Amino acid sequence: MIPAIRGTHDILPGEVEKWQHVERVARSLCDRFGYVEIRTPVIEREELFSKGTGETTDIVQKEMYSFTDKGGDRITLRPEATPSMVRAYVEHSLEHALPSTKIYSMGPMFRYERPQKGRYRQFHQLDVEVFGLHDPAIDAEVIDLAWSLVSELGISETEVVINSVGCADCRPKFQAALLAALGDDLPKLCQDCQRRAITNPLRIYDCKVPADQPIIDRLPHSVDYLDEKCAVHFTAVRGHLDTWGIPWRLSHRLVRGLDYYTRTTFEILGQTLGAQNALLGGGRYDGLVKSLGGPDRTGIGFAAGLERLVMALPEHATMAATPRAFVGAIGDEPRVDALRLLRELRMAGLAASMEFEGRSLKAQMKRADRLGARVVLLIGADELAKGEVTVRDMRNSEQRAVPRADVVAATRALLEGQ
Ligand code: HAM
Repeated sequence: MIPAIRGTHDILPGEVEKWQHVERVARSLCDRFGYVEIRTPVIEREELFSKGTGETTDIVQKEMYSFTDKGGDRITLRPEATPSMVRAYVEHSLEHALPSTKIYSMGPMFRYERPQKGRYRQFHQLDVEVFGLHDPAIDAEVIDLAWSLVSELGISETEVVINSVGCADCRPKFQAALLAALGDDLPKLCQDCQRRAITNPLRIYDCKVPADQPIIDRLPHSVDYLDEKCAVHFTAVRGHLDTWGIPWRLSHRLVRGLDYYTRTTFEILGQTLGAQNALLGGGRYDGLVKSLGGPDRTGIGFAAGLERLVMALPEHATMAATPRAFVGAIGDEPRVDALRLLRELRMAGLAASMEFEGRSLKAQMKRADRLGARVVLLIGADELAKGEVTVRDMRNSEQRAVPRADVVAATRALLEGQ
C-alpha cells in the first residue's frame, strides 16, 4: 500500500456531506452578497507569491511547494489564493469585464507546514476578494460576510477580532516606535523575533514563545500611530460593524502573517479548535494590485479554512442525505422491467439504486437498508403479470400495489414527503 502524503487527507463519505454543506452555505452567501465565482489554476509562477505574499513571510521563506518544470520555469503550488485572484483581476481586466469586482473562489492550497490538528499541507480555502472600493463600509461588509458564514453554519463560541495596521505612510513611524520600545530587550527575544526585527518588525506580535510574551505585551499598539486618514477609516469600520450588530474585539496583536496588509485586519477565532484557532482571516491590501503590475486599485478580502469550518460544525448539524428509492426484482423477466424503472426514476430527477450482483430478495432488501432507502419498489412475476409494482414506504413499512404507469409519481410523492 502506498499511503497518502503526510499532511494531506482523503475526504470520505460520512465526512464529505459536511464539506458539501459548508460549500453550499458559502456559495449561497457569496451569491447573496453579490460575489461571483472565478476559478484559477493550482500552479502559478513562483514569483507571483514571492512578490505578492511577500519575501519576508514564513510562507515564502519556508513553506512553498516549488519546483522547476521540464521547461525550466519555476512553478509553485499556490499557498494562498489572494495573489492568484489579483493576477486574474489584472490579466483579464476584470474591473471592466465584470459589473462588480467582488469575486470568490474555493479550492486546495499547499503549505509545507508541520501538520497538527487544524493545520495541513494540503488544505482548502474559501477566498473572497473585493477590488477598487475605498469606503470603510466595504471593510465592514466583508467582515459581515465572514461573520454570516460562521453564524449560518451554526458555529458558536466564536470571536471577531479586528485591528488596523496603518498604511505605507504611517507604518514606518509605528515600526520605529516598536523598535525603540524593544530597545535593550531585543536580545532577550527568541531567534525568530530577532530575525523579524530586521525583516519585518510587525511580525514580532505573531510570536507564540511563552518567555517572549511579557516583553511583547509592553510594546506599542499600531492603532495609536495611525495617521488621520487611517484613523478615520478605522473608526468608520467599527461604526458600521456596530450598526450591523456584529460583535468585535480590538486585538493589538493582530498583524497577520502576510506582507500585503494595510489598514483593517481581522480574524474570526473558534474556541473549540485548539491551537490553530483561526477559522478565517483577512484584511485590506491597498498596494498589492499595483505592486503586481495592475492599476492602482484597493483590495480587501478574507480566506476561510474549510477544514476548520467543517471541524467546528455543531454535532447536531444534520447533513440530510437525498431521499432515495431502491428497485428490487425477483426473477429474470421482472429484472428487465426493474432496470427500465430504475432509469425512468433517475431521468425523472429522483435518486434511485438497484442491486446488480446479489440476486436473492433478502440480499436486495439488505442493500436497500444499508443505502437508507426511503422507498422500495418491488417487481416480481406477479406484479409483472398485473402491470403493477409493490411500493413499500420504509418509514412505516406500509406496502401497496401501484399501477406501473403511476409508479414514478407515487415514488416522488413518498420521497418528497407528500
Ligand atoms: P491566512 O491567514 O494565511 O490568510 O489563511 C486563511 C485561513 O486559511 C486561516 O485562517 C485558516 O483557517 C486556513 N489555513 C491557513 N493555513 C492552513 C493550514 N496549513 N491548514 C489548514 N488551514 C489553514 C490567507 O491565506 C489570505 N490569502 C487571506 C486573505 C484574502 N486576505 C485578503 N484576502
